[in-house]
Amino acid sequence: MKILAIDTSCDETSIAISENDRILSNQLSSQIESHKEWGGVVPSLAKRKHIEMFDLVLSMALKQAKVKLEDIDFFAVTAGPGLAIALEVGITKAKELALKYNKPLDAVNHMEGHLYSAFARNQSGRFYSKNDPTEITFPAIVLLVSGGHTEIVFMKNHGEYGIIGETLDDAIGETFDKVGRMLGLGYPAGSVIEKLAEKGNENAYQLPIPMRNSGDLNMSYSGLKTAAMKLINEELGSLNEYGAKFEASLQTSHSLSRSRQNKISNTKATKPNTRQITLDICASFQKNAIDQIIIKLEKAIKINPEIKDIILGGGVAQNKYLRKKLRNNFPKHKLYYPQNKKLYTDNAGMIAIAAYYNILRKNYLCDPKQISALDRMPNWRVDTI
Ligand code: KG4
Ligand code: ZN
Repeated sequence: MKILAIDTSCDETSIAISENDRILSNQLSSQIESHKEWGGVVPSLAKRKHIEMFDLVLSMALKQAKVKLEDIDFFAVTAGPGLAIALEVGITKAKELALKYNKPLDAVNHMEGHLYSAFARNQSGRFYSKNDPTEITFPAIVLLVSGGHTEIVFMKNHGEYGIIGETLDDAIGETFDKVGRMLGLGYPAGSVIEKLAEKGNENAYQLPIPMRNSGDLNMSYSGLKTAAMKLINEELGSLNEYGAKFEASLQTSHSLSRSRQNKISNTKATKPNTRQITLDICASFQKNAIDQIIIKLEKAIKINPEIKDIILGGGVAQNKYLRKKLRNNFPKHKLYYPQNKKLYTDNAGMIAIAAYYNILRKNYLCDPKQISALDRMPNWRVDTI
């Protein structure tokens, strides 16, 4: 079966086509450049950009997959969680397509999409995950770490989820971005902080892990953010020289991620001390942000000793320091995550795979009246699917 999936939940307009769980195309138009100067996503701007880019991204996805709209068997769209007015663009287009071609429509939960990125195969049928996800033993634990969410999910089986731990305030990715902003590292800052942290001393500064002893599996990032902010102000002032220079260098870059990597190694602060302090703050912050997750995962597995497998998803799951700690601290558990950069951050490929598993369970909308009535669900939790 051919599935066409759409995700416009935040700042990427993405459309993918899959043949069952094989991703044939996964196109996206990123709006990061447009939102960068605001230091975060501006919803009205996101909506306008989604509308502007939709048709182009659709034709690129069809072209790459070498299929026509007439060949599509199922349409799928992210219905939530996400920015309401951004979600609406994708939902409206998906409804139009499903009704026009008289095909079923699957409303997919965006976090379920992040989870299912570990289940994707490439065009030639190879799994992107090193470990074969069809061999996962349920129940499994899923760690979903993104710009908007930090959740530990108990996955009883396909489509059956319970959130057993989550952040009570800021999400981990959002915290990386805010601390990065304070350091003048541009937006989004997660991967930049990771790179800088590699050269820093993670024990240079003592920052808190607010919920370490809370007794439950919940997390909190606002205390860590505030402590990091205070530290940055004390050590560097609000926008440090190293970061300001780095941010200025970004203004001229086109290909953001690659040029960022180069600029990091090329930028030299005039005061070497400032540079080292920045690296040490990045390392100390990253250590605590990730240790909180590791502590809570250890607790989750202690409570559920039958768990053998851990699935990883979301933008922050790209973080190599996190993955290393997971491998070191859970040597007996099998980890599942895709070996493909594009499948971590928001993309419609993961939505197509989640839709595939929904379709196998016959969980989709067929009746044109139900399709027309589908509405955005900005706060849709993965445990209420
Ligand atoms: O999953 P995603 O694309 O967006 C949401 O659905 O929210 O994740 C984006 C987030 C951003 O906050 C970004 O800074 C963070 O993922 N991120 C990282 C890394 N790469 C991306 N955080 C830490 N380390 C990374 N290497
Ligand atoms: Zn996401």
